[in-house]
Amino acid sequence: MRVAHTPAEIRSQLKPLRASKSIAFVPTMGCLHKGHLSLIKKAKAEADIVVVSIYVNPLQFGPNEDLDRYPRTFDQDARLCAEAGVDFLFHPATLYPKSGPKVTLKVEELCDCLCGASRPGHFDGVLTVVNILFNIVQPDIAVFGEKDWQQLAIIRRMVADLQMPIEIIGSQTIREADGLAKSSRNRYLSDNNRRQAIALSRALLAMQRLAATGESDIERLKQEANTILTTASVDTEYLDIRGATSLKSKRKLNKQPARVFIAAKVGNTRLIDNMPLELTS
Ligand code: PAF
Repeated sequence: MRVAHTPAEIRSQLKPLRASKSIAFVPTMGCLHKGHLSLIKKAKAEADIVVVSIYVNPLQFGPNEDLDRYPRTFDQDARLCAEAGVDFLFHPATLYPKSGPKVTLKVEELCDCLCGASRPGHFDGVLTVVNILFNIVQPDIAVFGEKDWQQLAIIRRMVADLQMPIEIIGSQTIREADGLAKSSRNRYLSDNNRRQAIALSRALLAMQRLAATGESDIERLKQEANTILTTASVDTEYLDIRGATSLKSKRKLNKQPARVFIAAKVGNTRLIDNMPLELTS
């Protein structure tokens, strides 16, 4: 595995390969866990060469968010990447000019709802860095986790609208045995919080089960989940059923693909999760 620390370095490493090899890209902020490793596995299955980036992007953290305490575990991450068969690891010190970024991106409608409502500017920061990384790596394929479904939907839209020749692949959420979605932030949970956190996936599964019986009423479905969340004393920020691609609120579940999205504070840690919601009866 080759490690590059600057855009020029990774560009010159990849240049001789472009004509004959397909390139899959997995952008990350490090602190890699099994969820990331599944993205890498998918990338390896889809292309000849896998590039992973590790960059904690300051532009996607709000003023009161955890940028400074976001875990930085480069040596361990590099070892995991090498073991997983990553070909190139890109670990830049910064991706922005000294004067700060003056060009940012936004996807109308998709960036301001759900997590965007409580994290203003977050998705603009994600899009801006992903766009910069795409310009540097110029991959054929890029793999993102479905756990960050809103991010995935926004990136798909950016790639479509800006005619970027990159195939975006979503990779299924990897969960702990009890259902908790894997996240770098799970490490902040105390034992007690960890037990409470199971309520998120349980609530979503309960909604899936209810929808499978033919229940299409959004309020009724939400009520089912809220009972579980309240019992676990989880501080729900939002629980919302939306179109899977448009992210538009739904008034009734129908045959169109829908997902349920949740964000909740457990202790001091903000967790998110989502699942598809299908009306099967
Ligand atoms: O999902 C993440 O880890 C980040 O949002 C990403 C896509 C690497 C951009 O910084």
